[in-house]
Amino acid sequence: MSTDNIRNFSIIAHIDHGKSTLSDRLLEVTETVEKRKMKDQVLDQMDLERERGITIKMQPVRMEYHSQNQDSGIKIQESYILNLIDTPGHIDFSYEVSRSLRAVEGVLLLVDATQGVQAQTFTVLEMAREAGLVIIPVINKIDLPVAQVEEVKEEIVELLDCDPDSIIAVSGKTGDGAPELLEEIVKKIPPPQSEAVSGKSGVRSLVFDSEFSTHQGVIAYVRVMDGEIKKGDKLSFVAGGEKFPVLELGTFQPEKRPVDKLSAGEIGYLMTGIRQVGQAKVGDTIIDPTRPLPAIPGYVEPRPVVWASVYPEGQDDFNNLKQALERLQLSDASLSFAEESSNALGRGFRCGFLGLLHLEIITERLKREFSLELVIATPTIGYRIKNMRTGKSESVYSPHLFPDASSAAEQEVHEPWVSAKIITPPEYLNAIIKLFNDHEIALLSTINLSSSRVMVEVEMPLRELMRNFFDNLKSVSSGFASFSYQLSDERLADVTRLDILVNNQVVPAFSRVISRRRAQTEAEAAVERLRKIMPKQLIVVKLQAKALGRILAARSISALRKDVTGYLYGGDVTRKKKLLEKQKKGKKKMQARGSVNIPASVFLKMVSSEK
Ligand code: GTP
Repeated sequence: MSTDNIRNFSIIAHIDHGKSTLSDRLLEVTETVEKRKMKDQVLDQMDLERERGITIKMQPVRMEYHSQNQDSGIKIQESYILNLIDTPGHIDFSYEVSRSLRAVEGVLLLVDATQGVQAQTFTVLEMAREAGLVIIPVINKIDLPVAQVEEVKEEIVELLDCDPDSIIAVSGKTGDGAPELLEEIVKKIPPPQSEAVSGKSGVRSLVFDSEFSTHQGVIAYVRVMDGEIKKGDKLSFVAGGEKFPVLELGTFQPEKRPVDKLSAGEIGYLMTGIRQVGQAKVGDTIIDPTRPLPAIPGYVEPRPVVWASVYPEGQDDFNNLKQALERLQLSDASLSFAEESSNALGRGFRCGFLGLLHLEIITERLKREFSLELVIATPTIGYRIKNMRTGKSESVYSPHLFPDASSAAEQEVHEPWVSAKIITPPEYLNAIIKLFNDHEIALLSTINLSSSRVMVEVEMPLRELMRNFFDNLKSVSSGFASFSYQLSDERLADVTRLDILVNNQVVPAFSRVISRRRAQTEAEAAVERLRKIMPKQLIVVKLQAKALGRILAARSISALRKDVTGYLYGGDVTRKKKLLEKQKKGKKKMQARGSVNIPASVFLKMVSSEK
């Protein structure tokens, strides 16, 4: 089929606005998936996606569409190949969205008719605009009785400055509007243009995603930009340098289906047989090394937002964990990791994530897909510490390496800030603004989007965002406020290290970085938490929390009363007294040494994320 009859597009939207459900209807209308095989959100293929009802991975699928046009009363049928990429809506997976946008010429911007424009709608729209894509506005869920079609249309017109009649109204549930939408796609989205470098011919494909298969090695998901690829062709990765013969190539239907060739403008997969996963990275360009073409500009490396140490529960699993992380990184290029070790936990990895949901999903995938038992430390953010004497800066991700109060005067601490948008019905605005003081939020502007939605633009420290801000926002707005953010700049931070001492010994694994003004509250909460989970010992255990150079909270756990005389029969008082005296002396000695054996279970509970 000629390139003129190919259309490549993504569906983008705020979370849960119905991308995957609308994709189901498009697959049905085009008869891509047989009726008997159709299930809800068929493109969400991972068990985890189906269980949680969220899309985590982008998913490409190829459809054949036969457009029926009327020209001067004559019916004309024209066939098209439509390559659709369904994308995740949650902000933690927005790197998936940005990558998918580089493989397409247009997007369907979906807005839920019951929710209207939400915070993440702005973020994905900005991404599509930056990529210079054609945007088709679509209003979804029009079947619902509470749908506010006209009002939401006005919001979209305001957002895109578009003609209200260009907005396609659909229901992903009933399929209403799906045929009209397909017509709009072939009409509005331009066919792919070959980016051929003038005067040169060759093969050039962008790797927008990949996965690892035990049998076929790395499988690269590609958008062919120039030339034609056939089975057996010997190609190479420009940046990775790795050469490979194409073992199999094909398209997504949505399951992989082999084809003879992939031409410029098409989207498909290449089985490479490469087992060195580091050599075949997402964002790289695949070329024919005998007719080299310049690389397509790669993706911007994502900046992790939170960090967490991940350790295997048994040290024998260290290599398995390493291999698992490498393979997961192939299908999730936003995951980063580096080796580290800890006295308490052994060898493990410090991993960077795009948010707390990302962390949760990755650790769940490590457990399920690789059968690993893991210890996940409390997530932290990174701080930049500038030594005022030397002028040198270093990044610190582990709280126990953060400078304590004694050296605070010589150091300047910088922390990441985010700029964020909150969209809410106006009746919750006051309750939301009350949260601002507690979370150190600066209000920048308030804009009325419509009579039923206000947008608030704010700035806040990332540290405060991670301190349950999102949950607090949802709770004060009864779940109606939506939120999106991006890292902005670095600012001076008013923070301190909180240490926990057990019988006067600092336990490094329990240290945390907290806001100075919350030091007292956090100190009390930490000591109380430890008191609850620490089992009694033979001696009295003193728990203290220290910050700002002093002890801010203290509790003690009384000693375990062990019955050392229980086995004695009768009333031999002298023997009883002797034994009790011996026990007292023993306890005195232990108390003087002060050593407390913190059970592994307490470590795990204390360092594990509280989620
Ligand atoms: P993420 O990718 O996780 O952001 O979700 P999504 O945008 O793909 O949304 P999804 O298709 O999973 O739909 C979210 C919820 O809305 C599901 O419960 C769907 O059944 C429901 N839904 C989607 N479209 C419609 C629609 O047109 N009408 C009705 N009534 N419900 C819909």
